[in-house]
Amino acid sequence: MSADAWKEYRQALPTTVADTERARLLEEYEPLTKERLDLGRYAGTLPRAEEPVYRWVRYKEAYSPRLVRDVLDELLPDPLVRQGGTGPLVYDPMVGSGTTLLVAAERGFRALGADLMPYATFLSSAMARWRQADPALIRQIATDVLSNYTSMPGRARLDVPAAGWAFAPVAARTITRVLDALDLVPAGPDRDLVRLAVLSAVEQVSYSVKDGTSLRRRLPGGLARPGRPGQQRKTMKAADVITSVRQRVGAIVEDLEKLCPASGRVPGQISLPSGDEGPPLCPPPIAVVHADAREWRPAPESCGAVVFSPPYPNRYDYSAIYQLELVVGRFVPDAGGLKCVRRQLLRSHLEAPPRTHYRISQPALREFLAAVNGSRGKGDESGRVLRMVAGFFEDMADVLWHVAEALRPGASAAVVVGTQTYLGQHLPTDLLLAELGRSAGLEAQALWVVRSKGVASQQRGLATPASRESVLILRKPPSQDRPVTW
Ligand SMILES: C[S@@+](CC[C@H](N)C(=O)[O-])C[C@H]1O[C@@H](n2cnc3c(N)ncnc32)[C@H](O)[C@@H]1O
Repeated sequence: MSADAWKEYRQALPTTVADTERARLLEEYEPLTKERLDLGRYAGTLPRAEEPVYRWVRYKEAYSPRLVRDVLDELLPDPLVRQGGTGPLVYDPMVGSGTTLLVAAERGFRALGADLMPYATFLSSAMARWRQADPALIRQIATDVLSNYTSMPGRARLDVPAAGWAFAPVAARTITRVLDALDLVPAGPDRDLVRLAVLSAVEQVSYSVKDGTSLRRRLPGGLARPGRPGQQRKTMKAADVITSVRQRVGAIVEDLEKLCPASGRVPGQISLPSGDEGPPLCPPPIAVVHADAREWRPAPESCGAVVFSPPYPNRYDYSAIYQLELVVGRFVPDAGGLKCVRRQLLRSHLEAPPRTHYRISQPALREFLAAVNGSRGKGDESGRVLRMVAGFFEDMADVLWHVAEALRPGASAAVVVGTQTYLGQHLPTDLLLAELGRSAGLEAQALWVVRSKGVASQQRGLATPASRESVLILRKPPSQDRPVTW
């Protein structure tokens, strides 16, 4: 039935294409556009390595805290926040490693995150509870587990596609034995942070690298083509795995000891922007739910701000990139479980299934789809790209609809997203999302272009269809009869 719905939608695409609708969009949004290239670096994950707590996990698709700090300063300027009494709720419907939640908590805001990939919900909830953790207990748990793990069964063979080339059997067995031993420790934030340390060592103790849009093999002279076997650098030994885990635990303990000194000070924000009033005395509540952002939202009109970054429609498959962490951490039992996760995630990749219905009739999107439909891609390349892009915007229409319902009147959402080019056709993802936001009742307030590629600097902005990364700010109009509160 869903294959038929897609076939029908594709057949109804126009056959002649004028390049006018995307040009019209560019023109329309030009006045809202502002260059914020100073933030470009922070749309990526690298600067996280410089910040305590944020450096504990490497989530390749994460943005850095500085980007969220600037966005929250824009969305929730102080004087307005103070009117709000209990403080606003900040929501991230695709929370990943939890950056939005941690920054919201720095500011003393309540925070709520959702994600559909179980590894991400684990990471973000473990990170979100760092203030409740005790570095001495973490050290103790790690010492006990690393002295006892050899008596545990572990698993030398893991049933996901990359496991065969990405792990030496001894590495797979050692890391799963450590996790088995950890399962015997009573549950709590300290145990979860040790588990996080073990899982964040997975890439290091494998022969894989998360690179571009795929998981690649690490070779002596560099990287292999995706999934290709080749000679490995050296044979990973049990001792190498244990050393990596110790290093990861060490970083967590070091940061916690710095942030929660024995003086008994309540650990507050991770790093204070100058001129701020200091850490909140009582850490604000943070929660993470395992939920689909296309179907779930917090209570209506409960959110003072929404900040998030969806997967980009760029073929990126989170279930493939994180397959080792997913299977090592028993978030999925095997390749079948991995496939289920893949089919559930937002349609940002070529393996995504078709939707049961297609309803978006945005002229600029149809123009892009018609242009790709008419071009000759390799094999059925253009067909799969088309289906991914159409599915992505249908999915995002659902997400934005739920975000609009969750926002308080007068409150705003910030969406961090990149544009793409397929078969020579430019896909202005940020502007198309602005249009979908409008259909959900959200007004585009601003478009910060934070990274711009492929055009000379004097031509930046929206005038040319450069590939860019942007922060799109959408506001729910204030209600006529109620004042704006957060
Ligand atoms: C770009 S990442 C978010 C990274 C995050 N901003 C951070 O700093 O770590 C996008 C996230 O969307 C999640 N995701 C994909 N489909 C989803 C869905 N339908 N509902 C909720 N989350 C989803 C992915 O698992 C991934 O963690």
